[in-house]
Amino acid sequence: MNDPRSELDRLMSRRWSCRAFRPDPVPRSRIERIVETAQKVPSWCNAQPWQLVITSGAETERLRAALMHEAETAAPSPDLPHPDRYAGIYLDRRRETGWALYDAVGVRKGDRAGSARQAMRNFALFDAPHCAIITAPRDLGAYGAVDCGGFVTAFTLAAAECGVATIAQAAVASHAPFLHRHFDIPDDRLIICAISFGYADEVHPANRFRTTRADVQDVVDWRG
Ligand SMILES: Cc1cc2nc3c(=O)[nH]c(=O)nc-3n(C[C@H](O)[C@H](O)[C@H](O)COP(=O)(O)O)c2cc1C
Repeated sequence: MNDPRSELDRLMSRRWSCRAFRPDPVPRSRIERIVETAQKVPSWCNAQPWQLVITSGAETERLRAALMHEAETAAPSPDLPHPDRYAGIYLDRRRETGWALYDAVGVRKGDRAGSARQAMRNFALFDAPHCAIITAPRDLGAYGAVDCGGFVTAFTLAAAECGVATIAQAAVASHAPFLHRHFDIPDDRLIICAISFGYADEVHPANRFRTTRADVQDVVDWRG
């Protein structure tokens, strides 16, 4: 009652990227509600450019097996080019998050096989029972992707509100040619990212760390 934080702030503090899921499926009606809530985000011209393929049951297992095989045998080729490099503070944050994960799962510095094994967990969808593939029209360029970013964030929050854990995954989208083939997604749509989701395995080591955030003064340049 005396908590000065807003409901939204509390919800945002409850969300984190889940990297180990239990197998139980999320009811279709709950997934529909999550999408319906996420649909309320703004988009340029209200274009609502996102489209989702959402897998459940045997379709998730089919995706998981084929994606793991793809990741072991094919080089990444994302529709949205990855950053050329992370430098300065961005590299520092990337490293801090990576080490927090490795520390949690017991991968030590220099253990290349261990870090490769953990990276491969992306393609097993962290054992999630569902995966959403988010696409945008190629014609809308960067702004289609910007709009999808808002949708992805809202999806993760709407899911958190009803106890469903999520993780956005660029790693999955990095195998874009495979995803186009596997789901018959036409080339006029860009694969933006995936969201694996389900119920968290709360006691799994990969879920035992949380990331930090910069202070307000580090991100705002006040004028006036
Ligand atoms: C667009 C996007 C793509 C991401 N891709 C991956 C990914 O491929 N693998 C992964 O483990 N985490 C991925 N993440 C999760 C980020 O690492 C995570 O959001 C960040 O470290 C902040 O931690 P938090 O979500 O737990 O607050 C992604 C997040 C976003 C928003």
